[in-house]
Amino acid sequence: MTRASRSQKPEPRVQKSEGRHPESRRTAAVSRGLVVRPMTMEDKPAVLQVSSRIWEGNDYVPLFFDRWVKQGGFWAAELRGRIAGYGKATELAPGEWWLEGLRVDPACRNRGIGKELSRRVLQRTLDERPVSLRLATADVNHESMHIITAVMGFKPYTQYRFFVGKPAKRGLENGDCTAAGSTRRSGGLSPVFPPLVRPAAAEAFDYIKRSPEFAASKGLLQYTWLYRQVDHRYIAELKRGGHVLGHRKAGKLDGLLILRPHRYRGNDLDISFAAGGNRALTAFGSYLSRVARERGTRNISGVAASDEMASAFRLMGLKRHPRMRRVLVYEYPI
Ligand SMILES: CC(C)(COP(=O)(O)OP(=O)(O)OC[C@H]1O[C@@H](n2cnc3c(N)ncnc32)[C@H](O)[C@@H]1OP(=O)(O)O)[C@@H](O)C(=O)NCCC(=O)NCCS
Repeated sequence: MTRASRSQKPEPRVQKSEGRHPESRRTAAVSRGLVVRPMTMEDKPAVLQVSSRIWEGNDYVPLFFDRWVKQGGFWAAELRGRIAGYGKATELAPGEWWLEGLRVDPACRNRGIGKELSRRVLQRTLDERPVSLRLATADVNHESMHIITAVMGFKPYTQYRFFVGKPAKRGLENGDCTAAGSTRRSGGLSPVFPPLVRPAAAEAFDYIKRSPEFAASKGLLQYTWLYRQVDHRYIAELKRGGHVLGHRKAGKLDGLLILRPHRYRGNDLDISFAAGGNRALTAFGSYLSRVARERGTRNISGVAASDEMASAFRLMGLKRHPRMRRVLVYEYPI
């Protein structure tokens, strides 16, 4: 049981009035009637119903429902006995908290529920005494940005360009793939052959720390809308999963790729990190094409904080998303 689930108790708090005009009175009434409590398995049908009406049924919350209920920090907003919204707080690493999954039933929008739910989820998360508390949203989500900054008091932390791509129909194979044995280990997406290697975690972390991306992202590494502080432990975890791939030139690491199955669509691919010289990036591009073909990947995505990673993505065939230009990461001033 996490600290979040231990401290979960319903919260029938009365909020202060929001003003004198009729809309504010209505908002305040909604706030008074809103109960924010831990989500339970019994809430699943209601949550599936609400999420089916969000983003044309492409909301990812249903994918994580069971896991999030067990994990804790999954808050339900109940209005007159019905689920009107929800939100999730997750401890990604000790003391490092992440907020996501804020949703309000489309039938209940613009009545102050999103704002009130956000305030209470924030308060509950601050009760856990986080060392850091962050979240992300897209630049097109204006109501979300308003709630994050004006209501919750988060400050901009860093921002990314969002890239997407389709796998090449016939990607090049790595030219050296017959030169030596495969170095596939510990559940990687596909075997790798020299000059592609699976570097040690310390070497990979060292490479990341020296990269422009590390500086531009302020030390964060993304994984499908989650942004976690990169450290040796995290890289070791990714290496165990077989997600860390390097390119060597004269025995030295001159490129690094961190590639994972997309968090919402397991056949798709998500690039957490890509950097290196032209030869390294060309080899990574070939590897990416091979993995995509093997998995039946339809979409590849990634975000870049630095110009260096943006160029790497372009070289690997990815393009800027046509509508969502930026992903904005915010941090709560603790
Ligand atoms: C974002 C969401 C949770 C808001 O829920 P809600 O209950 O409608 O929100 P509220 O009524 O409490 O507040 C909405 C606020 O956004 C403001 N707003 C709405 N459209 C806006 C816009 N285009 N630009 C700026 N602010 C806007 C409203 O004016 C209101 O703020 P105010 O009362 O201070 O003026 C809801 O729209 C939702 O579930 N969206 C889909 C999922 C999503 O985008 N989640 C966030 C992902 S990070």
